Amino acid sequence: MKNIVAFSGSTRVGSFHTRILRSLQQLSPADVTVTLFDLSAVPFYNEDLEGEHLPDAVKALRHAVEAADGAIFAAPEYNFSYSALTKNTIDWLTRPKGAGALRDKKVALICVTPGPSGGKNISKALSDLLPFFGNTIVATVTSPGIADKVASDGDVIADPAIRDALAELLEAFG
Ligand SMILES: Cc1cc2nc3c(=O)[nH]c(=O)nc-3n(C[C@H](O)[C@H](O)[C@H](O)COP(=O)(O)O)c2cc1C
Repeated sequence: MKNIVAFSGSTRVGSFHTRILRSLQQLSPADVTVTLFDLSAVPFYNEDLEGEHLPDAVKALRHAVEAADGAIFAAPEYNFSYSALTKNTIDWLTRPKGAGALRDKKVALICVTPGPSGGKNISKALSDLLPFFGNTIVATVTSPGIADKVASDGDVIADPAIRDALAELLEAFG
């Protein structure tokens, strides 16, 4: 059994990234479990909070990744780069330096945009960054025009190409 922890870099109620992660389990092979981690209680990184002051939400974040076989970052593109939430999650998970919970984990990326970019800038930024922490990027799913691919009933993974790409992404953790 593979246990994958998933992070959405958007807290927006209608977030495409969060909705895709919520729908992902239905595409998972029988031996893959995807758990969406709620980042809403995780504070901004502050070195003063390390050690005895470490917030419970950060302990839970680190434990979730330590216990996982891999991680999915569903990362919106903000100003051609990271949302603060995605970057903050990575910052917490890459401390202590050289021994962060994310170290050497398999990672997959989901980066979609309503516009024409298709998340190519944020997926490149993450693909350039994460290997510094020993991460292997096992799969990347990007898509422009995501709003136009959502079905009338709200199914965010109805589009056959996206559905197939996400199923392949999950297989890549096998
Ligand atoms: C601050 C900000 C910056 C953005 N910059 C970009 C961008 O550089 N490229 C792009 O394609 N979309 C950009 N967008 C649009 C996002 O891709 C869009 O809001 C997307 O739906 C965010 O993901 P979510 O649906 O998971 O919240 C930006 C949105 C915000 C709020």
